[in-house]
Amino acid sequence: MPIHTTEQGWVLETHAAGYALGVNRAGLLAHRYWGVRLLYPDDYPAAPDPTGWASFNGAAQRTPEEYPGYNDLKYIEPCLKVTFADGVRDVWLRVEGADVRDSDTQLDIHLRDQHYPFRVTLHYRVHEPYDLIERWVTIANEDNAPMTLERAWSAQWHLPCDERGAGYRLSHLSGRWLDEWQLRREPLARGVTRLESRRLTTSHHHNPWFAIDRGTSEEDHGEVWFGALAWSGNWALAAEVTDFGSTRVSLGLNDWDFAWRLDPGQTFTTPHSLAGYTADGFTGASQRLHDYIRDQVLPHGRALHKVLYNSWEATSFDVDEAAQGALAARAAALGVELFVMDDGWFHGRDDDTAGLGDWSPDARKFPHGLAPLIARINELGMDFGLWVEPEMVNTDSDLYRAHPDWVIHFPTRPRTEARHQLILNLARPDVQDYLITALDRLLAENNIAFIKWDMNRNVSEPGWPDAPGDPRELWVRYVEGLYRVWGTLRERHPAVVFQSCSGGGGRADLAILRLADQVWVSDNTAPAARLPMQEGYSQLFPACTMEAWVTDMGPTYPPLSFRFHVSMCGVLGVGADLLRWSDAERAEATELIALYKRIRPIVQRGDQYRLRSPRAHAYSAV
Ligand code: GLA
Repeated sequence: MPIHTTEQGWVLETHAAGYALGVNRAGLLAHRYWGVRLLYPDDYPAAPDPTGWASFNGAAQRTPEEYPGYNDLKYIEPCLKVTFADGVRDVWLRVEGADVRDSDTQLDIHLRDQHYPFRVTLHYRVHEPYDLIERWVTIANEDNAPMTLERAWSAQWHLPCDERGAGYRLSHLSGRWLDEWQLRREPLARGVTRLESRRLTTSHHHNPWFAIDRGTSEEDHGEVWFGALAWSGNWALAAEVTDFGSTRVSLGLNDWDFAWRLDPGQTFTTPHSLAGYTADGFTGASQRLHDYIRDQVLPHGRALHKVLYNSWEATSFDVDEAAQGALAARAAALGVELFVMDDGWFHGRDDDTAGLGDWSPDARKFPHGLAPLIARINELGMDFGLWVEPEMVNTDSDLYRAHPDWVIHFPTRPRTEARHQLILNLARPDVQDYLITALDRLLAENNIAFIKWDMNRNVSEPGWPDAPGDPRELWVRYVEGLYRVWGTLRERHPAVVFQSCSGGGGRADLAILRLADQVWVSDNTAPAARLPMQEGYSQLFPACTMEAWVTDMGPTYPPLSFRFHVSMCGVLGVGADLLRWSDAERAEATELIALYKRIRPIVQRGDQYRLRSPRAHAYSAV
């Protein structure tokens, strides 16, 4: 039974881990334990009852609260900050009751404010075989006046208390465009270490994932506490070591520039956070996430992904029926199974200054639509895939000329362009409906098996002039709008495989993987640069999501076999100009693709072991 209710509170047990919480004598919902599973539910320690510390720190400052609100003599990072209609700005939450549901896999703890009709429900779901616990929060305003949420995080995860407060090490992923997914392993400093995105997407710069150990764990052994947030917009991670030696990691929506008006009778649900404990080292942590993602998250689960060809690095914007047909013939001869036409195919698109927003084939390049090219590709025995960038618009497009008010902007400010494009405000239902109609038509009228969904800039001037609520709700409503558009298309076209791309790896997280089976890890396809990125990416995501192309990127490039071997660690693709490859190169590629197909079930479905890190060795092995 994964959830036990005892006199001391609640115990959540997975295959190898235990997590306990309970109410202490001060009435606070406190964390009790997270670590190796103990023999009996009564073995877990009771909720701690700390006292205050002089006049400067109350008992609450020293209590590891499961979901601290901002109040009291307490200065740690809280999870919840609100302003009530009368201007009061703190919350006093106490446990009102709890339910265990869904065959003992979900615990809901109901908290209520001591004065206002305001309820917060903490949800815990136990994923027993994966040693993972999922947490999220529902916040309900039962008052007759609106209130404002200023921070509503998903979870605070507590590590075992270490009075010296010096022993933990934080592993995280950081980087930038062309250099994403760099694994950093650093001692966790006292105070707050904050990682975040303010870019409207998950971002190339940090990923909402962490792993914490005591500084001695290795790939194959040692305790690791790890977790992630399932959200594709602005997020925050605060890893805090208090002056009393308590270490905790909070994850949730970024409260930077965030506000949410919660009207009477309304509820707000946070994104979900997932975390786990293992004694099997960093590989053990990754394998648990990989299995969970393959079994519980990905739209097509453990289905094997096809070897693909992508036209971008060969033809850039210069696509037409003849040129793509010639590449497709070469690709099919190598054993490629899916041919993806990248940017440049739609109305008015000759370079990056025009066309985004007008999702119909360019009549000059495709006078009879996409059908003849798709038929040719299907005759060659391959599926057809297509690139789109639905959230974007060029000012030189029919869509922008018709709806200049549909973009994110402040009316009195210039609209800053990046790559000559602006961002459609997907918080608006009319924009969502337009995209659903345009993309649904594209998918319904053409035999498209794969969509590469791109997003090539970050936000500026985050205004929403006619917002029905607080305009700062944009940060959340945009992402919810994206999920609605993408989710509707998925429902209507369930066989289509989607790839999430944002100029490379700018949008990869546990939430987007409910919509996309694959991720474009980076626009940098040079294999030596790719190795550390693949190591970082694999901390969290399984190889079956990691699209990796063999290209001719760079002034010089290493042997073809090395390029293939690096890409064969994920979902193999080819992105080079095949018309330039020699007979010998094509013969070698044909053999390597055949080899990949033989080992693909192991690469995509197997347990991944990181044997040699490219950070520590001149070579890498997985
Ligand atoms: C982004 C993607 C590339 C390619 C281009 C097309 O940069 O990451 O793979 O699709 O857009 O404009």
